[in-house]
Amino acid sequence: MELKPKTAAFWMVICLYLLSNWKSEAEAKNNFELQTDNFTCSSEDTSSSILKDFNCGVSKSAKRRTWHMEFKLKQPVAEHDFFMKIILPRRRPLPDFVLLNVTTDGCQLLANRNQVPLMRLGRSIMERFSNFPKQCPFKPNLNYYIRGFRLDLNLLPAVDMETPVHIELSYQSKQQGLKWISGYLLARVQLIGEKKRHK
Ligand SMILES: *[C@@H]1O[C@H](CO)[C@@H](O)[C@H](O)[C@H]1NC(C)=O
Ligand SMILES: *[C@@H]1O[C@H](CO)[C@@H](O)[C@H](O)[C@H]1NC(C)=O
Repeated sequence: MELKPKTAAFWMVICLYLLSNWKSEAEAKNNFELQTDNFTCSSEDTSSSILKDFNCGVSKSAKRRTWHMEFKLKQPVAEHDFFMKIILPRRRPLPDFVLLNVTTDGCQLLANRNQVPLMRLGRSIMERFSNFPKQCPFKPNLNYYIRGFRLDLNLLPAVDMETPVHIELSYQSKQQGLKWISGYLLARVQLIGEKKRHK
């Protein structure tokens, strides 16, 4: 049976439509980036028994803002806990979506032997942006930093929407139980505009 020209044209349009959609879906992940709005730090170590110095913030001038966290310790920190919470806030009355909320062994994390895939991924991404040791302890009087952190969302599973993201991370002393440094990141997963994307 031969297709009538009209029917053939109809199917061709459908095929083109599906094809173009499939293509944009395959590329969709490239269109998102994490835009940093704010990054601040605090410390519960008010008597400075562990922490000597710290400094956190966001770069001001860069086209794509990045965040940094730097600290110097007074004493070596071996055994410690690392806490991380990633929350996608939603409009009331929906409850916020908790993507991650874990406390984990800090030494295991430094050595990238953590069990949570997202944390392992995070640690390996961090390689490029920090001078954190690959194993415990953190040494005293050394300026540790995370700098110029940028997240390629292509590396993350299932990011396909525009959404605010709140991330909290803390390093906590096992002995004293205090969070000697905590960082708070406010960011947005954003669709990149057409113009920007093709640069
Ligand atoms: C960043 O957050 C801190 C603490 O919440 C706030 O004081 C400051 O104004 C914020 N900065 C910007 C640029 O939003
Ligand atoms: C995160 O986990 C802690 C301990 O399991 C729990 O107390 C806390 O309510 C959780 N926070 C959120 C936002 O789910």
